[in-house]
Amino acid sequence: MAEQTPEQLLEAIGAEVRACSACRLCEKRTKAVPGEGAIKSGIMFIGEGPGFHEDQQGRPFVGPAGKLLEEMLAAVGLRREQVFITNVVKCRPPGNRDPQPDEIAACNAYLERQLAAIAPRIIVTLGRYSLARFFPGAKISAVHGEPKFADSRAYVPFYHPAAGLRTPAIKQMLFEDIQKLPGIAKQLKELHDQGYFERKEDDTAEAAATADEPASDQLSLF
Ligand code: URA
Ligand code: SF4
Repeated sequence: MAEQTPEQLLEAIGAEVRACSACRLCEKRTKAVPGEGAIKSGIMFIGEGPGFHEDQQGRPFVGPAGKLLEEMLAAVGLRREQVFITNVVKCRPPGNRDPQPDEIAACNAYLERQLAAIAPRIIVTLGRYSLARFFPGAKISAVHGEPKFADSRAYVPFYHPAAGLRTPAIKQMLFEDIQKLPGIAKQLKELHDQGYFERKEDDTAEAAATADEPASDQLSLF
């Protein structure tokens, strides 16, 4: 059988998510929200979980927090269609309660498969649960906007846009942090060119899967 394209893989993951009943969040969802966007930009934003509007529409970040995310993207010349946007859990926790550990664990395989299909060069985490997934034990106030270079990519923690809507100082930090992405993309390319990732001994298995040279059109948006 011919190898599936990343688009086909993502479509298949999306279909599975929409039919998924692997955790209790399936019971009260209106629509599951697998995620959407471009693969080839190499940039992926990972939020927490769908809220009210996302659950209604089956699309990520389409409410007020999504509007702020779109404004942030516009500040560095990006449109939402040019990046991939998804969440740690794909179904809305009732009343926007926090996702529970067993729900996050049940949903993690979908995120893993999306990461493998997209092989993003930059992963931006939005909010607590996405931070915890990629920066265990980190405090957002200490690490926001600071890239971690590992697995042939840059992980960049951001505050959650919803926190920016509540607190003007956080909104300002979100805009400052997104302005760092072009520089981070440049740094990442330099590290690749220097063989940094090949030399790193603590690279994980995840890295081995994505250690190829970046596709030439990845990160060309900046
Ligand atoms: N908040 C999130 O974390 N994700 C969404 O998709 C919308 C709001
Ligand atoms: Fe399945 Fe994830 Fe939805 Fe739970 S949150 S039902 S694991 S898609």
